[in-house]
Amino acid sequence: MIDQALIVVAGLGTRLLPLSAAIPKELLPVGRKPGLQWIAEELCQAGVRQLVLVTSPRKNQIAALFDTDGSLRNALAGSKTPLAATGLWSAGPYAETPIRIAWQHEQHGLGHAVLCAADSVRPDPFILALGDTVIHPLGSARLMREMTEVFEANTADAVIAFQAVDSSAVSRYGIADPDRDDRVFGLRDLIEKPSAAAAPSRLAVAARYVFQPTIFDFLRRTEPGYGGEIQLTDAIRLMIREGGRVMGVVLPRGEKRIDLGSYDDFADAFIEQAFRDDPQLRARWREELERNP
Ligand code: G1P
Repeated sequence: MIDQALIVVAGLGTRLLPLSAAIPKELLPVGRKPGLQWIAEELCQAGVRQLVLVTSPRKNQIAALFDTDGSLRNALAGSKTPLAATGLWSAGPYAETPIRIAWQHEQHGLGHAVLCAADSVRPDPFILALGDTVIHPLGSARLMREMTEVFEANTADAVIAFQAVDSSAVSRYGIADPDRDDRVFGLRDLIEKPSAAAAPSRLAVAARYVFQPTIFDFLRRTEPGYGGEIQLTDAIRLMIREGGRVMGVVLPRGEKRIDLGSYDDFADAFIEQAFRDDPQLRARWREELERNP
């Protein structure tokens, strides 16, 4: 059982400005909860009992979401609203999960952010989730459970989630070179943001990974790559080249990744969660749309 996870909460959220000027993109609402809370719930549902958040001092509001100092619980103690009805993380089933913050003081890429947490993670396998991407249906741990099963059954060094994208979008993602045409496959290679012509497939990294802690050694040996940044993809590539067993899992049917850092996806996710998937608002909006299409 893999019981620790790292969530990277980094990046400036440039594509979402001005929404992300004062609020980290990971804390923006997706329906009734911030995106990051959905992710933390997804991971805890998959068996995680210890969370490490890597973030930058610019985003120090992150700890408030989890009420790590108890100040919100204390403030609510005398209020009429029962804590359990708030939906707060600290009133939910995973409130006791230890949460550690690891700081990334300078932005040198995703690989660098992960490396900043090397001393906060026990030397055991761990899950890595990117804090700006939720998996729909929100909070569901189906994908993460399947990934940890594949990891354990294959004694893998890493397992990565993938979703097929249009060829016009491959240059925005890490792209797999799979060894077979199947939902679960071995990776021959992984290429960060290739051109459509150079991409070995249309399978794009979908922001969820499982790693042996050896990934930190590969990251330490990784030189700056795409965009002059230390890329996690390049460390995984090194792992594969040196004989590591790296597997891919394509998202199950009915699940999809939603990149909250892109306004269109963020707006779709909010609308879907707030109206279509919300029992209270759904009926109201259906009537409203019928009256006022
Ligand atoms: C990162 C990774 C990339 C991955 C993407 C989405 O890129 O480097 O391989 O496909 O996340 O999971 P970023 O979006 O940070 O540029």
